Amino acid sequence: MENRLDFVSIGEVMIQLNNITPGPLRYARYFETHVAGSEANVMVGLRKLGHRTGLITRVGNDEFGEMILRTLRGEDIDITHVRVMDEAPTGIYFVQRHFPIPGKSTVIYYRHGSAASYMSEDDIDEKYIKRASVLFLTGITPALSESCYRAVAKARSIALENGLDVVFDTNIRIKLWKSADNARSKLIPLIHGSRIVLTNKEDLEILFPGKGVADAAKSLFNMGAEIVVVKKGEEGSELYSKDGRFFEEKAISIPFVEDVIGAGDAFDAAFLSIFYRSRDLRMALRYANIAGALVATVRGDIEAQPSIKELEILGRYIKERMDYLR
Ligand SMILES: Nc1ncnc2c1ncn2[C@@H]1O[C@H](COP(=O)(O)OP(=O)(O)OP(=O)(O)O)[C@@H](O)[C@H]1O
Ligand SMILES: [Mg+2]
Repeated sequence: MENRLDFVSIGEVMIQLNNITPGPLRYARYFETHVAGSEANVMVGLRKLGHRTGLITRVGNDEFGEMILRTLRGEDIDITHVRVMDEAPTGIYFVQRHFPIPGKSTVIYYRHGSAASYMSEDDIDEKYIKRASVLFLTGITPALSESCYRAVAKARSIALENGLDVVFDTNIRIKLWKSADNARSKLIPLIHGSRIVLTNKEDLEILFPGKGVADAAKSLFNMGAEIVVVKKGEEGSELYSKDGRFFEEKAISIPFVEDVIGAGDAFDAAFLSIFYRSRDLRMALRYANIAGALVATVRGDIEAQPSIKELEILGRYIKERMDYLR
């Protein structure tokens, strides 16, 4: 009997080339490498918080693929279902920070035709999905290619047929979907049946145009969701539950924003960790805000994701100052 996993996910891992100085990339001289990808980030975040996690992906048979494998191994992620392929390269992307909007980052992808975009139903091993309790999906992988879309759909079906929870972060990337209509029509069927949906106002507007957040959450409840978490950047987050509860939590105030990319993934990991440990929705939101804020203070998506001990240290620090955490 192979080991159980708590969470499993499917998604592209890339090399992030982050300009070490803020401003337009046309003047960039030095880029710092990081390993990142939304689903991988969440699996790493959950691993740091003590859960066993696995990732299904493909990397190229190249130096950057090797860098990704070394990183995932180092973070103790199960990579038994990662394929290394000769025919396509590892994807990369660049990050431009604080320009043209101070405090925000922009990504420029060089991922079209990458190894991970060739993932297909063949990459989805039913036995592997069944080893996990929760399948974590995002709106990014199904946007990579038709075959990636089918891979995600297959994993979702296996999960639902076998009683796994499906958790879905909408993570709509218009650069990948090309249009809001395309994102909506492709994503709605995949989100059906998810127990927890993590999202934000912009994504809800794309999925349920003109509805407003509360009604969009109701639509998600009608699609089977029990919990809808809305991430609001520097405003924090809010949560709607099917049984009518609503929670709102302010963001942690941080001394500066270095690079907000990855904050949402750290948020997801902390939210899921606290939720599955305690079912305490308010506590899960609070610690998710803390994890998101921490990652916004550094470049790179995984480096500043906290362990439980580190979450508690920062949680205590905040409590002493503003009685924010119980
Ligand atoms: N400037 C900030 N200050 C404090 N906390 C922040 C800040 N930005 C983000 N966070 C925290 O990180 C969480 C997630 O950030 P964000 O809302 O950008 O995620 P997201 O919706 O997943 O974004 P994306 O569209 O990039 O996927 C926020 O809900 C908040 O808790
Ligand atoms: Mg996100």
